[in-house]
Amino acid sequence: MIWLGIESSCDETACAVLRDDPLEILSNPLYSQIKEHAVYGGVVPEVAARAHLEKITAITEEAIREAKISISDIDAIAFTRGPGLMGPLLVGASFARGLSRDLSIPAYGINHLEGHLSAAWLTEPDLEPPYLTLTVSGGHTELVLEEPGFKYTLLGRTRDDAAGEAFDKSGILLGLKYPAGSTIGRLAKGKNRKFYHFPRALKNEDNGEFSFSGLKTAVRRYTEVNSKEYIQANLGDITASLEDAIIDMLVSKTVWALKKTGMKTLIVGGGVSANGLLRERLGNYCKSNCIRLAFPSLYNSTDNGAMIAAAAIRRARAGLLPACSTEVKPWLPLAE
Ligand SMILES: Nc1ncnc2c1ncn2[C@@H]1O[C@H](COP(=O)(O)OP(=O)(O)OP(=O)(O)O)[C@@H](O)[C@H]1O
Ligand SMILES: [Mg+2]
Repeated sequence: MIWLGIESSCDETACAVLRDDPLEILSNPLYSQIKEHAVYGGVVPEVAARAHLEKITAITEEAIREAKISISDIDAIAFTRGPGLMGPLLVGASFARGLSRDLSIPAYGINHLEGHLSAAWLTEPDLEPPYLTLTVSGGHTELVLEEPGFKYTLLGRTRDDAAGEAFDKSGILLGLKYPAGSTIGRLAKGKNRKFYHFPRALKNEDNGEFSFSGLKTAVRRYTEVNSKEYIQANLGDITASLEDAIIDMLVSKTVWALKKTGMKTLIVGGGVSANGLLRERLGNYCKSNCIRLAFPSLYNSTDNGAMIAAAAIRRARAGLLPACSTEVKPWLPLAE
């Protein structure tokens, strides 16, 4: 069976072709709108929707060409129905609807977060729930227990900003370009993580909740009391200290949730799961505690079409595909 996965919830126009017998990613191209949004320092919904509209046909054609299939070989479509920005979601859903009618094939709306949590499964397809999941992305930071049958229980989420947002907004305050997460990871490598102590909100509280808005304020204060020249001269050590604070909060709460649930498998997903320090620290903890740890490939950590098709394939195998519908839902939590 050949699946087409379409992702358009935020600022990546992505489309992938996956085969499910056996499981293989045949193509997974995307167009990242970084250039369109960098001048504003963040994603502008209207600009994103227009860029999706301009690129979605070309990216789909590219996915089909790269997969060396013809459009009539596609058996089903999986597209992101939410959560995300209304305009961008509507572009993807409308495109999926048109294609589904033209080809007389079904189109299934997939939860973007379930997509992020299915990305690790693409590299380790023997993963089976129950397991603990950590979603760390541009808009989400949450710990969720997944049990068989796509049953999700929320253990805690951020009260304010997401971890990716903390990287991006702090990065902009430090003079970096949006999105700053991967740049901070690169600048911080091998630098002094104890150069400055940024706050770790809620770290020692007995719950799975996160808070990153105080960190952003601390970075703002830091840029107010230190000169631009000083920040530029010490950017490596400052970004290393900032990354240390964000990853420390993520790892502490994940360890809390592992202890609380007794789970022996941990799956991580979302753009921040590409972070090297997060991979290293969770890796060390899981190794010492005999916990299986699964991350997506670096490419599949951030938004892509393969993760959306992967979630649909997992559901199809379990006989739990949603009813065909092209309705979108900007607010669509995995678990309340
Ligand atoms: N190596 C990295 N280290 C830290 N953060 C990173 C890294 N690579 C990407 N990011 C961050 O990941 C985020 C983008 O992730 P993703 O594409 O999953 O987010 P999104 O789709 O916009 O949000 P959501 O999935 O919550 O809707 C950005 O905030 C970016 O800075
Ligand atoms: Mg995402």
